[in-house]
Amino acid sequence: MSKKQFYSRRFFLKTSGALAALAAIPASVKSFYLDARKLLVARKQTVPLPVSINKKAYKLSVDTRTTLLDLLRENLQLTGTKKGCDHGQCGACTVHVDGQRVLSCLTLAATLPGKEVTTIEGLSDGDKLHPMQQAFIECDGFQCGYCTPGQIMSAVACVKEGHTHSVEEIKEFMSGNLCRCGAYNGIVESIQKVAK
Ligand code: FES
Ligand code: FES
Repeated sequence: MSKKQFYSRRFFLKTSGALAALAAIPASVKSFYLDARKLLVARKQTVPLPVSINKKAYKLSVDTRTTLLDLLRENLQLTGTKKGCDHGQCGACTVHVDGQRVLSCLTLAATLPGKEVTTIEGLSDGDKLHPMQQAFIECDGFQCGYCTPGQIMSAVACVKEGHTHSVEEIKEFMSGNLCRCGAYNGIVESIQKVAK
């Protein structure tokens, strides 16, 4: 079989498979999703958002569907907050809202008027690192660093919440923050150091 034949045959199989799958979806379900999609596109709305981010006052106008994570990274270029899974599973996007840790990928920006948001960029005092940032450096709390901003924001909250009585407790209350490099021992050590 020639390469051309192979590709056209494969294309045919894939296309016919996709069409068969589409045909298997009941018409009512298809039309529901098409209507919902049309509504989403048609109902694009913006709302005013007066908000404080890292102690700086902003008067923004945001699409009601924008997440806090996208607002920070895409609109305000505060890229210290990382996008990992974008589904509330990894903790890379953790920031503080009014001092509480939240997953910014699951938080709609439009819900935050009048709130105080703190990101990793707002944690240090000018050039002076936050004690948790310093502890992560001293205790080898990171390797590639991708999860680190989220880990540090959660770690600061973990200490503030008082969940640092044992290694087990720290692990439990840091379990929403995943680290693919496996820097967990250094992270726990950093938290213990700051909690002392
Ligand atoms: S990016 Fe928000 S939890 Fe993973
Ligand atoms: S330091 Fe690499 S993912 Fe945590």
